[in-house]
Amino acid sequence: MKNFLFGKDIVSIDSLSKEHVELIFEKTREMAELVKKKDGDRRLEGKIITTAFFEPSTRTYSSFVAAAQRLGAGIIPLNGMTNTSVAKGESFEHTIKVLSRYSNCLVVRHPEPGKPAEAAGFVDIPVINAGDGINEHPTQGLFDTYTIRQYFGKIDGLTVVMVGDLKNGRTVHSLTKTLVKMGKLTLIYVAPGVLRMPNDVRNTVVEMGGRFDEVENLASVISLADVVYMTRVQKERFLDHTEYERLKDYYVLDKSLLHKVKKNALIMHPLPIAGEITSEVDSDSRAIYLTQELSNGLYLRMALLDLLLLQGRK
Ligand code: CP
Repeated sequence: MKNFLFGKDIVSIDSLSKEHVELIFEKTREMAELVKKKDGDRRLEGKIITTAFFEPSTRTYSSFVAAAQRLGAGIIPLNGMTNTSVAKGESFEHTIKVLSRYSNCLVVRHPEPGKPAEAAGFVDIPVINAGDGINEHPTQGLFDTYTIRQYFGKIDGLTVVMVGDLKNGRTVHSLTKTLVKMGKLTLIYVAPGVLRMPNDVRNTVVEMGGRFDEVENLASVISLADVVYMTRVQKERFLDHTEYERLKDYYVLDKSLLHKVKKNALIMHPLPIAGEITSEVDSDSRAIYLTQELSNGLYLRMALLDLLLLQGRK
């Protein structure tokens, strides 16, 4: 398959076609094999990846660092900008332009929606969105879709139930967009009214020929789910702490609710968990947020670095 992602930015799922996603998935499978057989190789030797994280991260940051290192690339590891000249008042534009001079690829996380796309406009090297505020988290949406398809062998006909803070949770925005691009499925959004899935994401579902339902009661729909995708109420997006306290335990997946979930369903979560799944669920064989979901995140990020940085037929 031709590598039509060479040199491109990954700032939103909107800019990816189904063929792009298939190419990424094919490369992800290759990376999984590579890691299982020999931990990685040196194909990106001589390249340098900068992780410019303006907002906290454990998984996305460390898996991008691991992805770069497993392919032989060097890294400029910036996780939190308090020790950079951002703390002295340097502008986002200057910071990004400076880092691009030292690197072959920028991975940008930022609390403000649109900042990775803005960064891409400043530089001529690929920029990957590692999460921009309440907007998108494209790499998470991609590897979660990959994980679902890997398990079920399809997207068509599945019912995916997304639960929690669907307004502020960027992962569910990117996951929705990727899923409806890759197949015809049913989405059920479970959220309190004030945390509903945003209009633009719901419109995307309709435009792509998908269907969604919205409910508030998780117990009434959880038995329909092939995938239960839990999310955290995003504390850092709330101005009113009382409102956060009111909503944070709105949905809790515990052992009693787990009994209603199909035997062959998947229970997923982008992590971190902040009380919405009880620890007794962690060891259930359907819960994959501490296992396959994480491994696939590494493989998919390795795949992206390969595709964006190495030209040629793949
Ligand atoms: N899923 C996710 O984005 O986790 P981090 O915030 O730890 O990167």
